[in-house]
Amino acid sequence: SAQTDPAIAIHPWMQELGDGVDAAPYGMPSPHEADVKRRTVEWLTADPVSSINFTPLHDLDGTITPNGLCFERHHSGVARVDPAQHRLMIHGLVDKPLVLTMEDLKRFPRQNHVYFLECAANSGMEWRGSQLNGCQFTHGMIHNVMYTGVPLRLVLEEAGVKPEGKWLLAEGADAAAMTRSIPMEKALDDCLVAFKMNGEALRPEQGYPVRLVVPGWEGNMWVKWLRRLEVGDQPWHHREETSKYTDLMADGVARRFTWEMDAKSVITSPSPQAPITHGPGPTVLTGLAWSGRGTIPRVDVTIDGGITWQEARMDGPSTPKALHRFYYDFEWDGKPLLLQSRAHDSTGYVQPTKDALREIRGENSIYHNNGIQTWAVDADGKAENVEIS
Ligand code: MTE
Ligand code: CO
Repeated sequence: SAQTDPAIAIHPWMQELGDGVDAAPYGMPSPHEADVKRRTVEWLTADPVSSINFTPLHDLDGTITPNGLCFERHHSGVARVDPAQHRLMIHGLVDKPLVLTMEDLKRFPRQNHVYFLECAANSGMEWRGSQLNGCQFTHGMIHNVMYTGVPLRLVLEEAGVKPEGKWLLAEGADAAAMTRSIPMEKALDDCLVAFKMNGEALRPEQGYPVRLVVPGWEGNMWVKWLRRLEVGDQPWHHREETSKYTDLMADGVARRFTWEMDAKSVITSPSPQAPITHGPGPTVLTGLAWSGRGTIPRVDVTIDGGITWQEARMDGPSTPKALHRFYYDFEWDGKPLLLQSRAHDSTGYVQPTKDALREIRGENSIYHNNGIQTWAVDADGKAENVEIS
């Protein structure tokens, strides 16, 4: 009770002066928040330079991902690019090949947009049943930041795309020289050549000094450390669009060029890394929802494994191809719960169950798993990754 709470006391911080203004010229979170960090799953990959770590979604709120917590996916580690020596070249089927410095790029008119980036492999370890215990690991290959950049269309217009130029190859300056083919229609639509995230320069991990932003499309296409754009008349069929980032169906045929990220959602709390610790009574359930095709006007939530569904309360900005935050505030009776969320996007598409997805996709897939996630909460408030049918 208020009378007996020993924390109502005179604490050291009430009696001493704190740090001066310059103690941290670039600020860091409170030491009490040291657990809020990106984490990897060591057995997933053979080597940390061709690997992935995950955004701690269970510790975050709102919709914007802090720069230092954006998950990282590199094929050859973080390229150490000197911006003064970095060039972006545009060539191929263009009237006027260009070589742009960072300064040249910053003289084009720029725009600001908030977009999520989701790796196509997000939730990919869950195809054959529940495996990883925490939304950081099942859903954390996603981040959502405000990009500042130049519309790709303006750069392509400056070079002058020839009429037969229907495809664009984007290449990174990392040792992987990662490449993807992008249809010209998308390149001219909403792609950005971005140099800022959440107001500051891109972090090295996110492609400093410049990356491609391909809104709503799988993260692999968002080429980091962008150095080359080649205009061609057909796709290149490189590694990342043949051997990888294709979806092997049950009949042995692979789907290709599955670029758009389907609508998806996840409850971030309660969840395995964010159990209920306060006991029965008022409880805040919250999560994230997104769609590569638009906004999320509605999320349904169930706490009884789908017997009854309630509409969640959306709160925060709602812009296309960006994360949306939802809440469901309820009285927990202290009994076990089966939590699920189901996103509806602005095209009318409804997030499927994992079983419905497997009926169409089989179980050979890695990529594009947007099935409904279930957390089982026990009477102690502990949560676990489960599947129910
Ligand atoms: N670009 C380059 N040059 N090299 C890479 O390894 N990885 C891709 C993409 N762009 C990659 C790249 C993949 S698979 C994803 S999911 C996203 O970058 C991850 O972006 P992030 O590290 O900013 O989260
Ligand atoms: Co990826």
